[in-house]
Amino acid sequence: MKYIDLRSDTVTKPTQKMRDAMYQAPVGDDVFSDDDLMNELEDLVAKKLGKEAGVFVPSGTFSNQLALYTHCNQGQEVILDQDAHIVQHESGASPVISSVQLFTLESDKGIWNLEKLERVIKKRSISTTETKLVCMENAFGGRVIPLDYMSKVHAIAKKHNLAVHLDGARIFNAATALNVEVSEIAKYADTVSVCLSKALGAPVGTVLVGPKPFIDEARLKRKQMGGGMRQIGILAAPAKIAVEEMSKRLYVDHENAAYMEGLLKEIPNITVDETQRDINMVFFDINDDRKYHLHDFLYKNGVKILPYEGAFRFVTHFDIDRNEIKKAIELVKKFFS
Ligand SMILES: Cc1ncc(COP(=O)(O)O)c(C=O)c1O
Repeated sequence: MKYIDLRSDTVTKPTQKMRDAMYQAPVGDDVFSDDDLMNELEDLVAKKLGKEAGVFVPSGTFSNQLALYTHCNQGQEVILDQDAHIVQHESGASPVISSVQLFTLESDKGIWNLEKLERVIKKRSISTTETKLVCMENAFGGRVIPLDYMSKVHAIAKKHNLAVHLDGARIFNAATALNVEVSEIAKYADTVSVCLSKALGAPVGTVLVGPKPFIDEARLKRKQMGGGMRQIGILAAPAKIAVEEMSKRLYVDHENAAYMEGLLKEIPNITVDETQRDINMVFFDINDDRKYHLHDFLYKNGVKILPYEGAFRFVTHFDIDRNEIKKAIELVKKFFS
């Protein structure tokens, strides 16, 4: 059975064009910098983001953690949102890999009180550790963080000589929603992690971009973490298509999410979280205790969703169309009717 998969935009399969490009990709040993296609991909992503250099890693988690490891020394502090992917969903990696202290600051759905941010920045003393890095995330869940807010966070960080890292797992979605180039978002960070296997459809990979000396150091640390890879032109080939072509069609996923939201709102007692409706995701809750069984009902009827965890999150992507969205939401309607 072909499932309608609303769990995430990571579930997409590589397109035929990507598969053909993989098959034909020229390759070399990337640890010796011999893989020309990978060198091209890293340069392409860096240029798009307005940065000097990039390094390819297997996942968004690897990229974020490599950024922390390269920015910080042991015992230094990283300020980030309490709901940031880096602290909530990366398997507790930061204290293990980088021996850093994570200071999580409460936000209003990704927006900090900036006076509070400035107050918690610390200098090294007999009893405090030094803050080294501030992390932002854009898109943040399904919310796009406004650029004027990012510029203020960046300005505060620079005033205190801190580095800024952006988890831009879905930066192309954020740029599509804001109708700007990705570089307009990336300019408020020193380093950015850009996932190619989420909404863009590449089978594997994230590129960490930033200043050349930083990326040179990150490349050594990637090897130390076991991330030195060999003939990875076969991964660069679909990733180039993801960046050059698939990034231009994300508005379709966003429009489909708006369409899905419209259908969901026809169901009684549903509340859509409007603060997180900027990209290809719809977060919603329903005031009906049967919601705990929706996952199993949909699964039996050919639709995959994540289990209920305080809210539902349905995600659109290029492997589902409007007919499938309609079919899935009609099943939701039927379940609650
Ligand atoms: C915002 C954000 N950052 C980082 C990641 C980590 O990416 P990966 O699953 O490739 O490790 C994800 C994964 O969905 C994410 O949503």
